[in-house]
Amino acid sequence: MAAAVFTYSVILVFLSSVKAEECQVHDVLHSQNLISVLVGEPLTIDCLLHKILALQHMNYSLTWYKSGKKMPVTQVKLSRIHQHENLLWFMPAILEDSGSYECVMWNLTSCNKIYFSITVFKNTAGLCFNGDFLYAQEISASSNEKIVCPHLDYFRDEKNTLPIHWYKECNLIDNERFLSWDDDLIINSANVNDSGNYSCKMTYTYMEKEYNISRNIYVTVIETPLRKKTEILYPRNNTIEVELGSNVIVDCNVSSSKDNSVGISWRVNNTLVNFLFMGRVQEGNQEDSFPDGYLFSTVTLNITEVKQEDYGRQFVCHAGEVAAYIALRQPVRNFLGYLIGGLIAPVFVIIVAILIYKYFKVDIVLWYRKSCRPFLSKEVSDGKIYDAYVLYPKINKVDCIYTPDNFVLKLLPQVLERQCGYNLFILGRDDLPGKAVVNVVDETIKQSRRLIIILVPDSSSCSLLEDIFEQQLAVYNALVRDGIKVILIELDKIKDYANMPESIKYIKQKHGAIRWKGDFTEKSHSANTKFWKNVRYRMPPRCPTFSELHLLPTALNTFQTTER
Ligand SMILES: *[C@@H]1O[C@H](CO)[C@@H](O)[C@H](O)[C@H]1NC(C)=O
Ligand SMILES: *[C@@H]1O[C@H](CO)[C@@H](O)[C@H](O)[C@H]1NC(C)=O
Ligand SMILES: *[C@@H]1O[C@H](CO)[C@@H](O)[C@H](O)[C@H]1NC(C)=O
Ligand SMILES: *[C@@H]1O[C@H](CO)[C@@H](O)[C@H](O)[C@H]1NC(C)=O
Ligand SMILES: *[C@@H]1O[C@H](CO)[C@@H](O)[C@H](O)[C@H]1NC(C)=O
Ligand SMILES: *[C@@H]1O[C@H](CO)[C@@H](O)[C@H](O)[C@H]1NC(C)=O
Ligand SMILES: *[C@@H]1O[C@H](CO)[C@@H](O)[C@H](O)[C@H]1NC(C)=O
Ligand SMILES: *[C@@H]1O[C@H](CO)[C@@H](O)[C@H](O)[C@H]1NC(C)=O
Ligand SMILES: *[C@@H]1O[C@H](CO)[C@@H](O)[C@H](O)[C@H]1NC(C)=O
Repeated sequence: MAAAVFTYSVILVFLSSVKAEECQVHDVLHSQNLISVLVGEPLTIDCLLHKILALQHMNYSLTWYKSGKKMPVTQVKLSRIHQHENLLWFMPAILEDSGSYECVMWNLTSCNKIYFSITVFKNTAGLCFNGDFLYAQEISASSNEKIVCPHLDYFRDEKNTLPIHWYKECNLIDNERFLSWDDDLIINSANVNDSGNYSCKMTYTYMEKEYNISRNIYVTVIETPLRKKTEILYPRNNTIEVELGSNVIVDCNVSSSKDNSVGISWRVNNTLVNFLFMGRVQEGNQEDSFPDGYLFSTVTLNITEVKQEDYGRQFVCHAGEVAAYIALRQPVRNFLGYLIGGLIAPVFVIIVAILIYKYFKVDIVLWYRKSCRPFLSKEVSDGKIYDAYVLYPKINKVDCIYTPDNFVLKLLPQVLERQCGYNLFILGRDDLPGKAVVNVVDETIKQSRRLIIILVPDSSSCSLLEDIFEQQLAVYNALVRDGIKVILIELDKIKDYANMPESIKYIKQKHGAIRWKGDFTEKSHSANTKFWKNVRYRMPPRCPTFSELHLLPTALNTFQTTER
């Protein structure tokens, strides 16, 4: 048995030595043929990694040699260096193993020889790796990236399923972002700071012996994604307001990766606008720029004159596979603005007019009456004798501060009669002696256009000389009878109307009262003070109001007739 094997080997060796002369030699400098391993670690080399030699399906022979040696590598498994099937094994590699190895394959008609250069290295002092023997891997800064622990294929079998331990700069990685999975290190949200020297380590058990297997990888995390999707930044399927007949320019802004330049065009109904609109709508030239290493392109849409039919139409910018449109909308007239402008202004004017009237009502009315005077020098006769009937309490002068007598008998006549020409009836001054008071009051009020009631503040020190009955009755009659207006004059502030008769309260509430603030001296009072203006305002006009104007001709005739 042993002899048979030996004989077979000798024949093979003989054959190979003969054939080697005619062998076709393959590139020794191919990167896959440069193999490095850390001293003390196992190494396997697969000659058939080379796909150029697809010999798998042919009857062939494969033999490993250390360069310069006639004898092939032994196939005895116990040997530290041996060939097993097509693989060359170092269990483990020692520094002296560094050098060139050859893999020779032949069949009956051809021969191929491949060289491998093996370097057994030591780690840099103080490090867990050697910076000269690093695998390089690039990943991009994105969500899920992985680093691969390379060339572990032949060390994975049923007995060797232990997980790989990963190190960065020789420190065991213990971070939630990193996950060891099969031969990979998965990095969640990789960023530039993840660049660096990584090491992966596993233990390998072979023929009851444990070996360490390690790989060192220099990882570069590339900041920007390697490839950028084409994206239309503008338009964004939006609508813009444009005036009918205006010239509209719309940009189509597209970003894409440099190596993925796409054609950009503006279309309507999938037809190029240049064809569809006979020049009214045109596409501009593409303008490119390269910010941040990307391609940024702009193609404008030029609508020289917006027509009615353009509204609602979708102008679509196509950039390769992606598309986005812009639609035009007719501007909405700001009806609300007009409405507000149209309403606010008059309302404002009205408010101002009301305010002016409220504050200058008295002056306006008095001015109006005065300016009418030239048209009518004599008032209209309405059958009444008196302009006002003056009603006031008779108070004991001795113990009371407020006596209306002076006001009623001196000031009122001075201003209203002498200055303004009114004709007053003042009870106690103008009444005929002998007549019953009630009768006098009633009849005279009937003949008066106004009823002036003088109020004095209620004071316990003031005792009324006359019964309030007369007043009550007069006021009652005045109120019941339509047409007579009451003027309330307070001679001082009346704090409490509670004690006043109901009728007075009613008048106060309805028409208000005028308060006298001056003194009672006999010095001349002007009819143009505020108080007197207010009184005059409430007095009948000395010239006709609008409502009386239609009576004017008749009145004039009457007057003329009377004079003649
Ligand atoms: C290899 O050779 C054997 C005989 O030595 C033959 O039976 C077999 O078919 C061959 N295989 C191929 C793939 O040529
Ligand atoms: C030997 O291998 C070569 C390829 O290297 C192939 O072209 C040839 O057919 C093979 N010869 C035989 C007899 O299998
Ligand atoms: C990388 O590290 C630097 C310094 O520690 C830090 O300022 C920076 O924010 C880090 N970058 C990222 C993306 O985490
Ligand atoms: C990785 O190792 C090399 C060689 O030892 C060293 O020059 C480099 O600074 C290391 N990289 C990092 C990120 O530490
Ligand atoms: C494997 O490496 C560990 C340290 O990582 C070391 O303690 C151990 O001795 C090594 N085993 C062999 C067989 O070299
Ligand atoms: C399109 O890009 C150009 C050039 O950067 C820029 O001036 C323009 O404002 C962009 N248009 C829109 C609508 O974003
Ligand atoms: C686009 O197509 C619609 C119907 O598909 C048609 O009504 C419209 O007129 C077309 N627009 C133009 C500009 O041809
Ligand atoms: C738009 O088109 C009109 C008519 O072709 C041209 O005169 C004008 O210069 C264009 N505008 C732009 C911004 O290209
Ligand atoms: C915009 O409309 C186009 C079709 O015209 C469609 O393909 C695209 O997804 C739309 N984009 C957005 C952001 O809605």
